[in-house]
Amino acid sequence: MRCAVISRKFDLRAYYGKALAQIADRIESVDHPVTDGAEAVRIALAWHPHADAFERYPNLKAVCTIGAGADNVLACPSLPSDVHVVRVVDPGQAQMMAGFVTWHVIWHQRKFATFMQHQRDRIWQRLEQRPASTVPVAILGYGKIGERVATHLTGLGFPVKAWSRTPKPMAPDVQGFHGRDGLFAMLAETEVLVNLLPLTPETRGLLNRDVFAAMKPGGYLIQTGRGEQMVEADFLSALESGQLSGASLDVFAVEPLPTDHVFWHHPKIVMTPHDACDVSFAAVADTLVATAAAIEAGQRPPHAVDRSRGY
Ligand code: NAP
Ligand code: GLV
Repeated sequence: MRCAVISRKFDLRAYYGKALAQIADRIESVDHPVTDGAEAVRIALAWHPHADAFERYPNLKAVCTIGAGADNVLACPSLPSDVHVVRVVDPGQAQMMAGFVTWHVIWHQRKFATFMQHQRDRIWQRLEQRPASTVPVAILGYGKIGERVATHLTGLGFPVKAWSRTPKPMAPDVQGFHGRDGLFAMLAETEVLVNLLPLTPETRGLLNRDVFAAMKPGGYLIQTGRGEQMVEADFLSALESGQLSGASLDVFAVEPLPTDHVFWHHPKIVMTPHDACDVSFAAVADTLVATAAAIEAGQRPPHAVDRSRGY
């Protein structure tokens, strides 16, 4: 089956070339814009597609992303309404995110920012340490990744709460919340807030002054969802007032983050360039193969997102 490879931001061919070569007997991948045989294209591999990208492919049936979040494909104006959008579900990615979030929770709990400053200043000073059981963590989003993160943290003794859109069964030791009331009930008992929500109309701007104000004073934010979910001015005010003692940011409303942005120099912010975790090449290849098989069988591909709810 012919697959168009589309991105205005990344060289997907350079990154996934090996994976695409391994499945070349089943998937013929051709770089966008496909000039010869565009009507034969039935699936696409896309990440931040060009606004008009999909106009070229009249027989497109499904678009596969290279990540867990499908927001950038769903936002593409030329995406036909009847095309499936398929995200990658990769347990290895969830595991990697769990390690990343855990590192940042412990960075806050064990006061490593202070130790690093003390090292720079050659200060030998032990700091009072708090056990994990006294640092309540809340996770926004209890999906494939949030659930894995929650399990890692409970294993280390952190009290963990998680918020979802709908009520859900929770892993042992994870306290579940849902809906608007559930969010604020959870925040009242939250010191570390981890964002692992998909970007949808409901979650855009969700990390705002009301949310920060509802957390325990001196709280910490780990922002690993999408940049557009945070109101930057509210976040900076919360850092300024001390309502937030610090934050780890992996995602930003504009990526790459402009070099003159205040976040680069802020003493209370730790930053990474949208690199909290990656899906494996094998997971991307498996997603393409499973999607092609489903399309050939006239079925809905596995991990196709619900386009009406946006994830
Ligand atoms: P998922 O399996 O689809 O889970 C999404 C979770 O968010 C579900 O629990 C869902 O609730 C909840 N949710 C959605 N809308 C909500 C709302 N309005 N209110 C409350 N909860 C809501 O997604 P995933 O695989 O865990 O990935 C989550 C997100 O993490 C991705 O979309 C992406 O934004 C982000 N991510 C970032 C990186 C990075 O490198 N920084 C890497 C991977 C993923 P229900 O359970 O009720 O449906
Ligand atoms: C990365 O941001 C992903 O959605 O996988």
